[in-house]
Amino acid sequence: MTDRAKIDEYWEMPNTVSLLDKNLRKLETDFVLSHLSSNDELADLGCGGGESTIHYAKKVKSCLALEHSNQLRSIAKKRFKSEKLKNISLVDGDILDLSAYSGKFNVVVTQRVLINFLSWDEQKQIIDNIWSTLRPGGRYIMVENTFEGFEELNAVRRGVNLPNIPLHDWHNYFLHYDKFIDYIEDKFVIETTHTFNLYYLLTRVFLNMFANFEGYGSLAKKDRIFDIADVAARELHEKYGNKITIQVNKGDSFGPIQGFVLRRMG
Ligand SMILES: C[S@@+](CC[C@H](N)C(=O)[O-])C[C@H]1O[C@@H](n2cnc3c(N)ncnc32)[C@H](O)[C@@H]1O
Repeated sequence: MTDRAKIDEYWEMPNTVSLLDKNLRKLETDFVLSHLSSNDELADLGCGGGESTIHYAKKVKSCLALEHSNQLRSIAKKRFKSEKLKNISLVDGDILDLSAYSGKFNVVVTQRVLINFLSWDEQKQIIDNIWSTLRPGGRYIMVENTFEGFEELNAVRRGVNLPNIPLHDWHNYFLHYDKFIDYIEDKFVIETTHTFNLYYLLTRVFLNMFANFEGYGSLAKKDRIFDIADVAARELHEKYGNKITIQVNKGDSFGPIQGFVLRRMG
């Protein structure tokens, strides 16, 4: 079976979880929302079960929700129906071929989707495809993982005798920060970058020093303290995340997921 077929199969499995940490999802979603407005014609590419998409659709003029997995699309369909959202169209599609959507949107979102492609060549192709779907001056809001942010977090974990968080490299390939920045340089202007540093420090280092979290996705086992402590960490991050600087060596993120708002040039 090819890598791609394995990843497709993974997203068809009924118990696959896109992001277990609901508080981190809220931080991601709020970041995206803070860059949307009521006139936006948006595409959420690789929308999964639509958990964040419903919030985006409530804020914008129209929303195309594109998802490759039949399983996740059927979850998204039910969710959109129960929210009675009239401005969403949910479509089957492949982010590697967006030729049907040339110049259709003024905002595109991907939320942990590029990282599902295991080569930089495919990721570059997706970045180019997204550029083409945007009108001139349109924005690409990315919530994706960088390898450097992931390494920064593991370095601090090692410093306090915690094991590395493993890289699930059979279905994830994180962006390499410098390569990524070099590649987009003549395509997009970086308007904003956004990090979740304080939240990552509290939940992936501090809490782990006295509470247990093992496993991954739907198989994760965690002490019950995470249920309340993650909420508290998110609240702290919401209030002070922008004010407290956590020194990082490479890139600007402590922790893998970070946000970028890119404006299409040309
Ligand atoms: C980590 S999940 C994120 C889902 C969603 N953005 C969210 O925030 O919950 C990655 C998503 O990318 C989708 N995906 C994978 N390959 C794709 C492709 N070729 N075209 C479109 N979506 C794809 C998966 O099915 C999955 O829904």
